[in-house]
Amino acid sequence: MTISPHGGMLIQLTEDAAHHNFDHSISVDETAASDLELIATGAYSPLTGFMTQEDYETVVHEMRLANGLIWSIPITLPVSKRISEPVKVGDFIELNFNSQSIGTLKVTDKFEPDLYEEAKLVYQTTNHKHPGVKKLLTRGDVYLAGPITLFKNQKQSHPFQKYYFTPKDTRKLFLQNGWKTIVGFQTRNPVHRAHEYIQKCALETVDGLFLHPLVGQTKNDDLPADVRMKSYEVLLDCYYPKDRVTLGVFPASMRYAGPREAIFHALIRRNYGCTHFIVGRDHAGVGNYYGTYDAQTIFSHFTLEEIGIKPLFFEHAFYCQRCESITTKKTCPHESSNHLHLSGTKVREMLKSGVKPPPEFSRPEVINTLINGLSE
Ligand code: ADX
Repeated sequence: MTISPHGGMLIQLTEDAAHHNFDHSISVDETAASDLELIATGAYSPLTGFMTQEDYETVVHEMRLANGLIWSIPITLPVSKRISEPVKVGDFIELNFNSQSIGTLKVTDKFEPDLYEEAKLVYQTTNHKHPGVKKLLTRGDVYLAGPITLFKNQKQSHPFQKYYFTPKDTRKLFLQNGWKTIVGFQTRNPVHRAHEYIQKCALETVDGLFLHPLVGQTKNDDLPADVRMKSYEVLLDCYYPKDRVTLGVFPASMRYAGPREAIFHALIRRNYGCTHFIVGRDHAGVGNYYGTYDAQTIFSHFTLEEIGIKPLFFEHAFYCQRCESITTKKTCPHESSNHLHLSGTKVREMLKSGVKPPPEFSRPEVINTLINGLSE
């Protein structure tokens, strides 16, 4: 038995690219294309399409769909006013990405959202410098909504095909492995020692680890997914037991919405079949927009039963010279002068200029793979 998906049923909306009579053809951006894929493969269960105004409003204001189920991030299809103009409720639309027909939308709603309100409530800021807000404010002023389908087998054309699993695939895999409890790990970064520490602490208490790096759109200064993937392979090969870990890609766009995105990430990992989900320091955060543990405290708004996946909270982990290991304030008694702290920005800068961060921060095999990958 695997864990039930959010809403009780795994949504499946893929179809062979059939000959349809469309009313319009619309090009969508990378985020909408990946959202389409994630809706259709059930990662976003119970969503069956882009959100109607009713769902959108309750998600933005109450972190719930109109039917009461928890949902924290709006999943919308923004288009410009010009493109939306001829579209009417009832129209059947072909969705294109990169000049390829990727799916369909049956329009049941079309509305103009208050983007600043969305920014304020979902991202807790209207600052244009916030990467999620910046994108939100430039994607389009009109939202088209309604049920979707996805064409073709995305698996066959995905750049990380070997690691591409739909929620249906991972559920089957976990069953085959005999895992009853599985902890999911979201990341948009290489796995450094602090990440490894919290993953392995979690793995001590469950049957399997699902390392599920986000490989969709990220901000420009995050490390590219192809380079990161190589570093995960090397790390798993050298330091993780093969029968306890599955690596799979998460083809979503990063929102950088901190606490709200942590809830979203947890619900999605439940759909992939995880029973537990790691939330560490400043999950899905960026800059100083969110408090270090806001992404943990937000879970107290909901009951465990409603969320359906158990969040595992971890304190900020770091290397301590006196402990000679990765530790946290919870387990280390030493002064902070003994602690090694390197910001993500600093590490990215070092790697890009070929400078190796210390081995206490990141395994040398990982560092070498990253530096080589970035210089290619
Ligand atoms: S995220 O944007 O995908 O959340 P990142 O890849 O840095 O960013 O983090 C992946 C997960 O590890 C998140 O749950 C995050 O909170 C956690 N994490 C990252 N670094 C640390 C750390 N030093 N100590 C504790 N948790 C951490």
